[in-house]
Amino acid sequence: MAKGQVQIFDTTLRDGEQVPGCKLDTHNKLIIADRLDELRVDVLEAGFPVSSPGDFDSVVKIAQLIKNARVCGLTRAVKKDIGVAAEALKDAKKSRIHTGIGTSDSHIKFKFNSTKEKILERAISAVSYAKSFVEDVEFYAEDAGRTDNDFLARVCEAVIKAGATVLNIPDTTGYCLPEEYGSKIKYLKENVTGIDKVTLSCHCHNDLGLATANSIAGVLSGARQIECTINGIGERAGNTSLEEVVMIMRQHPDLNIDTNINSKLLYSTSQMVSESMGMPVQPNKAVVGANAFAHSSGIHQDGVIKKRETYEIMNPNDVGVTQSAIVLTARSGRAALA
Ligand code: KIV
Ligand code: ZN
Repeated sequence: MAKGQVQIFDTTLRDGEQVPGCKLDTHNKLIIADRLDELRVDVLEAGFPVSSPGDFDSVVKIAQLIKNARVCGLTRAVKKDIGVAAEALKDAKKSRIHTGIGTSDSHIKFKFNSTKEKILERAISAVSYAKSFVEDVEFYAEDAGRTDNDFLARVCEAVIKAGATVLNIPDTTGYCLPEEYGSKIKYLKENVTGIDKVTLSCHCHNDLGLATANSIAGVLSGARQIECTINGIGERAGNTSLEEVVMIMRQHPDLNIDTNINSKLLYSTSQMVSESMGMPVQPNKAVVGANAFAHSSGIHQDGVIKKRETYEIMNPNDVGVTQSAIVLTARSGRAALA
């Protein structure tokens, strides 16, 4: 059976850059964008053009630079935002406008002081307006994780009719359990007319440490795009980590799904982003942490020396790490010393 393809939508330069205390200048953003293109991300969210002149300028320059990935700009469901994003993206080889609005009861009541019907109208007009500039329009239903499935399905159906090509179902607050998030995607697949014409996208935050698990649950229920960042950086506890979801699919061929990512660039890309943002990678970080391929106890060291696979499920070379490390500690034995 042919492998299913999952698109990687990188948002390191937009949601990732919302990390408290970090700011990248345009020069650094261009270096990272170029590397993300080399890594072969499918979509590169370059920024939120209306948010500041600096962000606008970065999106313009990234759009001019990138050769392969589709370049995307974020907007609210506001005409001015959409017009400004279209202007920033106009030189891109392939572009996408990412527009949307909060759909949960809490967002509708407290953020917008509005009603479900009015939110639905704003969603439709934002997508129709974005469509007047670009063919590829992604719609996000902010706080979809806490939006009731019935209303979410109504919003999705309406924006598909208005021309959306991708539907982003964000777990904005990182609240969902994997089964719950997977069921939400399944519900939309089964209850939204026209859903087969569009790509469903997972955008999961990591407030409870479940972003990666939720994104994979979404894909297993039929989503075909994951929104993620290098090192999982982002608002609060961060976003889904790109390197984790890519390697989960790669290490589980039984799932029959894969991405275009050149995994050999994962480690160096992680280092590059960490250095430019001044955000150290925790040593025990999956896939790219300093200890991800380091063995310290005697029993493990003995096993790895005899056969690497006894304690390693990934080949370090596959993620660009030259070799596993045997670290001499008080728990090391003769094998490690030898
Ligand atoms: O977390 C979120 O809901 C977002 C949207 C703006 C896509 O980042
Ligand atoms: Zn987000």
